[in-house]
Amino acid sequence: MVPKISTLGGYIFEYQKSVTNPTGFWSNIAESFYWRKKWDDILEWDFSKGHVQWFKGAKLNITENIFERHLFFRGNQAAIIWEPNNPNEQHKTLTYNELFVEVNRFAAVLTRLGIKKGDRVAIYLPMVPELVVAMLACARIGAVHSVIFAGFSAQSLGERIQDAGAKLLITSDGGFRGSKTIPIKQIADEAMSNCHCVSTAIVLKRTGEDIPMTSGRDIWWHELVNEQETNYHATEMDAEDPLFILYTSGSTGKPKGLVHSTGGYMVYTAYTFKNVFQYGDGDIYFCSADIGWITGHSYLVYGPLLSGATSLMFEGIPTWPDAGRFWDIIDKHQVNQFYTAPTAIRSLMALGLEWLDNKKLHSLKVLGTVGEPINEAAWHWYHDHIGKNRCPIVDTWWQTETGGIMISPMAGITPTKPSYATMPLMGIQPMIVDQEGKPLLGNSVEGNLCISYPWPGMARTIWGDHDRFVKTYFSTYPNMYFTGDGVKRDEDGYYRILGRVDDVINVSGHRLGTAEIENAINEHPLVDESAVVGFPHPIKGQGIYAFVVCTHFSTGGVEGIRNSIMMAVSNMIGPFAKPDKIQIVTGLPKTRSGKIMRRILLKIAEGKTSDFGDTTTLLDPDIVQEIVKGAHAL
Ligand code: PRX
Repeated sequence: MVPKISTLGGYIFEYQKSVTNPTGFWSNIAESFYWRKKWDDILEWDFSKGHVQWFKGAKLNITENIFERHLFFRGNQAAIIWEPNNPNEQHKTLTYNELFVEVNRFAAVLTRLGIKKGDRVAIYLPMVPELVVAMLACARIGAVHSVIFAGFSAQSLGERIQDAGAKLLITSDGGFRGSKTIPIKQIADEAMSNCHCVSTAIVLKRTGEDIPMTSGRDIWWHELVNEQETNYHATEMDAEDPLFILYTSGSTGKPKGLVHSTGGYMVYTAYTFKNVFQYGDGDIYFCSADIGWITGHSYLVYGPLLSGATSLMFEGIPTWPDAGRFWDIIDKHQVNQFYTAPTAIRSLMALGLEWLDNKKLHSLKVLGTVGEPINEAAWHWYHDHIGKNRCPIVDTWWQTETGGIMISPMAGITPTKPSYATMPLMGIQPMIVDQEGKPLLGNSVEGNLCISYPWPGMARTIWGDHDRFVKTYFSTYPNMYFTGDGVKRDEDGYYRILGRVDDVINVSGHRLGTAEIENAINEHPLVDESAVVGFPHPIKGQGIYAFVVCTHFSTGGVEGIRNSIMMAVSNMIGPFAKPDKIQIVTGLPKTRSGKIMRRILLKIAEGKTSDFGDTTTLLDPDIVQEIVKGAHAL
């Protein structure tokens, strides 16, 4: 059993132990798991080379720690409760026994199709239980899964499949999302036509619509599964073998395929899940994140299932058929822990309290947030109206790269403060540094957030580009992992995340590189160049503001260009990356050496009309006033 902290004193004591003797601490936690062979060495690391290995030499299969480790006591307990998009459709429950059978069957399918240990399998599915089955079947046979969020466009999907060199794509005919039906297979077909590594596509029937199947490549999921195959002997993996690749945006245009390990990721996600949410036997836990993002990987699938928890997954959106959908699900399934994003809270808050009429929410014990800073008003609304003033809120700070939660209260143990992620979890050694990398020790300081010691859940590399991994995370400040976030440590030693300090923006909890959006905009034939910045948005946290230089117009005029830019971004990335504001300008504020002064654009996007700081290095200072005027008129 993974140990659980239960008092503040316990946290302080264990935290001290975990940072004075991290290897002793983590090896003790790791003892709770099932290893076919224990490690020869607990940790080997050299941040200057981006080299981190935990539990070296250990052998395991992560799915044995989900199933074989739990089946005896929990075989008949629900592992997954699946709530469909449409409340009139019957929900499904898969017990640990049932999920085990499905995973074994699908593992056999993958093996029959020639997928072997180390092969990459791309998964582009809506939020259906088969998504979990597909991931765990990959893990069972030692294949590396790469789940791509089903909101990504064909171009983004193709780019990711190609980068990972996936042989197989697992997808569906379509997907339900609120009142819409998403043409998943059509998008997948377009993606596959541009990437030649995929030789087979397994297609799950979800919406039942008529779709073309390419002969020799596409096979229906239900035609492959053999009811007789209920037992598949799990492949032995090294602790450091990759478990999955998950793509995320960075400050350059190309998405990064972060690679997570098997052993370290397992230990870290299970430990943090149990402790942060204070999950107890019999609890029903509901994480509303999509599995296409890291939150879904770590805290809908792996963390909960490794802990023998019941994890509720929801196919739909919070506002359909009405804005009471989350609360209905919580009442229907008697959810105890609920984990969501601030953007969802803000959008529901904006729709008014009437959606809470007749909702009991009595079962709730813990509320969580993730993905972006939560403003105080949203925190209080969540606390008062959803938690009824009795549920602690865990504001969990972490990243795709960190694998699991890093700074967060432990529910009911760490005293909370609105908008603060509060204190580091076990083994996490945050370091705040100034621009020059000088550590800012003590309290009441603000700077860039680094982590000065490895933890088991951290990503090991960027797929196919270790140099980029070193450059991005370990070279800004020597011997430290740089998070890209700004942070404040207040007078009580509490951490408050201030947001990104690089060219990454966080839109409704979706992380997007400004360069990625600019690349998409610049594809438009009438666009000369563009600069994208984030601006404060009441619901999304940050909105996307695009300054676009166009010197020629077609018949549609400015509106026509705006619409076609929206379309270009939607096609190249996905509809969630569409700019909120597009300002057509005749030039951008640039230094004499040609560098765009983004800080000026950021201020304009925030609504400022003066006080732009030193503009003497600008090639054409007049352009600033022109842009300010245009922004005002927008
Ligand atoms: O800026 C931080 C913000 O989200 C970034 C990581 O995004 P991603 O890799 O997509 O993972 C999101 C889910 C873990 C961080 O660099 N972020 C995440 N959680 C918080 C947060 N900002 C403030 N408070 C948080 N709780």
